[in-house]
Amino acid sequence: MRCPHLPDGFDFTDPDLLQDRVPHPEFALMRETAPVWWCTQPPNISGFGDEGYWVVTRHADVKYVSTHPELFSSNTNTAVIRFNETISRDQIDVQKLIMLNMDPPEHTRVRQIVQRGFTPRAVRSLEAALRSRARSIVETALASADTDGSFDFVTNIAVELPLQAIAELIGVPQDDRSKIFDWSNKMAAYDDPEYAITEEVGAEAAMEIVAYSMNLAAARKECPAQDIVTQLVAAEGEGNLSSDEFGFFVILLAVAGNETTRNAISHGMHAFLTHPEQWELYKRERPKTTAEEIVRWATPVVSFQRTATQDVELGGQRIRKGERVGLFYSSANNDPEVFDAPETFDITRDPNPHLGFGGGGPHFCLGKSLAVMEIDLIFNAVADVLPDLRLLEDPRRLRSAWLNGIKQLQVTTAAES
Ligand code: HEM
Repeated sequence: MRCPHLPDGFDFTDPDLLQDRVPHPEFALMRETAPVWWCTQPPNISGFGDEGYWVVTRHADVKYVSTHPELFSSNTNTAVIRFNETISRDQIDVQKLIMLNMDPPEHTRVRQIVQRGFTPRAVRSLEAALRSRARSIVETALASADTDGSFDFVTNIAVELPLQAIAELIGVPQDDRSKIFDWSNKMAAYDDPEYAITEEVGAEAAMEIVAYSMNLAAARKECPAQDIVTQLVAAEGEGNLSSDEFGFFVILLAVAGNETTRNAISHGMHAFLTHPEQWELYKRERPKTTAEEIVRWATPVVSFQRTATQDVELGGQRIRKGERVGLFYSSANNDPEVFDAPETFDITRDPNPHLGFGGGGPHFCLGKSLAVMEIDLIFNAVADVLPDLRLLEDPRRLRSAWLNGIKQLQVTTAAES
C-alpha cells in the first residue's frame, strides 16, 4: 500500500535523509495514517529486501514483532554488520555467527552463555574502574581544550568511555587497547564517506578483531583467568562458546556497544545544551531516570529488521512470508499513544517504556545496564568538571542508513562574552 501523504518511494533508510534529520514529521504521519506501510523503494541497507520493505512505526506493533520471533525471524541480516565475501574465512556465512542474526533455539543457547558476562554483579564490578575513567576522560578533555576553551565533545569525551568499557569487560590487556580501538572505529566508520574508509577496510578491521579475540579465547582455554573470556569459553560443566563464536561475539560488542553508546552520550550532551533548564535540574538532582530519557530522546538505533516466516497480519496489513519488516524504534519512541508530550526532553520521565534498547523480545539489548551505567557516569563527571559547558555550533550528524549519530559537537568551557 502506498502512503497517501508521502511521495512514492520515500525511504526511511536514506542516509542523506538521516544525515540531515530524523524524519519525525513523516513518522507521525505514518503512525496516524499508515502505521504498517509497504515502502517500494529498494532500501539503502544491504539485505533489507530488494523490492521494498514494510515500515512499522507504532510502539505496539514494533513490540509485537520483536516479541514474536516465531513469526518474524532474525535469521537474515537483522542489523548492518557487513563483511566482504572475499575476506570472510572458508566461505562461512559470517552473519549467521552473530547472535543478533540467530533465532531460537540457537539464539537461546548462545544468549544463555553470554549472559554470564552481563549479570548485575558483573556489570557492577566494572563501576569503580569506569567511574575513574569517566572522570579522567572529562578532565583530559578540559586540559587539552584549545586556548579559547573549545573542543569537540564527540572525539574527546563520547568516543572514549564505551571503548574502555568493552575493553574492560572482556579484559583486553592495556597494551592491546589502541589496536582494538582502531579496528572498532574503522568498522563503525565505513558507512560514512567522510572518513574515507572503504568497506574493505571496515571488513578487514572486523576480521582483525575476530582473529585477535579468537587468540584471546585460545589463550584462556589453555590458561584460565578471572575474567569474562574465561567464563564464556573455558568454564567447566556448562555450555561454552567455541573460539569462533567468541570472536564473533566480540565483533558484535564492538558494533553494538560502541557506536550506540557514543551517540547516546553525544545526543544527551546536545539535548542538555539546548535545554538548559534540564541541565540545571540534572546538576542539582542527578535524577536516576536521566539515562533512559537520553536513550529515548536520542534513539541511537533508528531501525532493525526482521523477515516474516509465514503470511501474517499486522496493523491491518497482510505481510507475506519472506517479506522484510523494518522496526522503526525512533518512531515508536515518539508515539503519543504511549508517551505524554513525546517531543519534550524530560529527564524525570517515569515510567519511560521506550524501545531504544529493542522491543523486549529475545534480542533485547544485552548491554543495557552497562550502557545506562556509562551514560550516568559520564554525565556525572561532566556536571562535576564542566558544569558551564556551552554549545558553539550545530552538531555535524553521522551519515548512516540506520544510526542516529553525531560526528562532531563543538563546545566550549569559556563564559559567553
Ligand atoms: C542488541 C540498542 C548498548 C550489546 C541491541 C538492540 C538494540 C540495542 C536496539 C536490538 C534489540 C532487538 O533486536 O530487540 C543499544 C543502545 C545502546 C546499546 C541504544 C546504548 C545506548 C549496548 C552495549 C552493549 C550492547 C554497551 C555491550 C557492550 C548488545 C548485544 C545485542 C544488543 C550483544 C544483541 C542481543 C541479542 O541478539 O540477543 N542493542 N545497545 N549494547 N546489544 Fe545493545
